[in-house]
Amino acid sequence: MSVPNLKIDNLHVSIEDKEIVKGFNLEINGGEIHAIMGPNGTGKSTLASALMGHPKYEITEGSVMLDGKDVLEMEVDERARAGLYLAMQYPSEISGVTNADFLRTAINARRGEGNEIPLMKFIKQLDKKMDLLDIDQEFAQRYLNEGFSGGEKKRNEILQLMMLEPKIAILDEIDSGLDIDALKVVAKGVNEMRSPEFGCLIITHYQRLLQYITPDKVHVMMQGRIVKSGGPELAQRLEDEGYDGLKAELGIEDEAEEQEV
Ligand SMILES: Nc1ncnc2c1ncn2[C@@H]1O[C@H](COP(=O)(O)OP(=O)(O)OP(=O)(O)O)[C@@H](O)[C@H]1O
Ligand SMILES: [Mg+2]
Repeated sequence: MSVPNLKIDNLHVSIEDKEIVKGFNLEINGGEIHAIMGPNGTGKSTLASALMGHPKYEITEGSVMLDGKDVLEMEVDERARAGLYLAMQYPSEISGVTNADFLRTAINARRGEGNEIPLMKFIKQLDKKMDLLDIDQEFAQRYLNEGFSGGEKKRNEILQLMMLEPKIAILDEIDSGLDIDALKVVAKGVNEMRSPEFGCLIITHYQRLLQYITPDKVHVMMQGRIVKSGGPELAQRLEDEGYDGLKAELGIEDEAEEQEV
């Protein structure tokens, strides 16, 4: 078993010729949970989508390495097979594909031909994890995310995470729209994943989630890059002060974009 390492170096990402991510650096090792906070529109989801290889996002500079391999050279499916997982802020609905089928296909794609997961083993694991996440058994046979409530979608993302066992996961606002019980369930799922073989990047607006999942590091993203890093106390400070204190400290006026003069 190896400890994964994701290294993002000086990443620049543009959408339709507009630069959104501007020199982003971060290293995540297995066993570590990092949180990124930051005002709306500062490029957090753009960063996540670019890491997963969304075609709309153009990488103009920088590098992303997973265990020494160049992620930016990989197709989207190769990234997933290499062990990257993204829980999206707005998961899509796929009609005609059941949750269970989707999961089994995704797991087998990752395991590779000739090494498919035995059906019974899959069912057993699925049962166990759905139980842990308090997801009703009927969800296995429902079409992926179709008609799922906001909270159900987020829980389902954690189910996928637990079934796929990626090396590095990026969870974009996994806590948005969750009631307090669901928040605890989601946190339980992520905490269950904690191991030297798993690293996690949590994008969130609220310190609340971080009360249940204690991050090793908290980073603040503004203007497309990390402007401050610290421990869990940084999240608490933002909760207390908002971003104004930090902006004043760093001399930042408009958090979303640099002001043109
Ligand atoms: N597909 C797109 N087309 C055009 N503009 C985009 C696209 N995706 C992102 N942007 C722009 O890039 C900027 C950053 O968006 P992004 O979604 O990364 O912000 P965010 O930090 O995730 O914000 P939030 O906290 O609100 O989720 C925004 O100004 C947004 O409008
Ligand atoms: Mg976002």
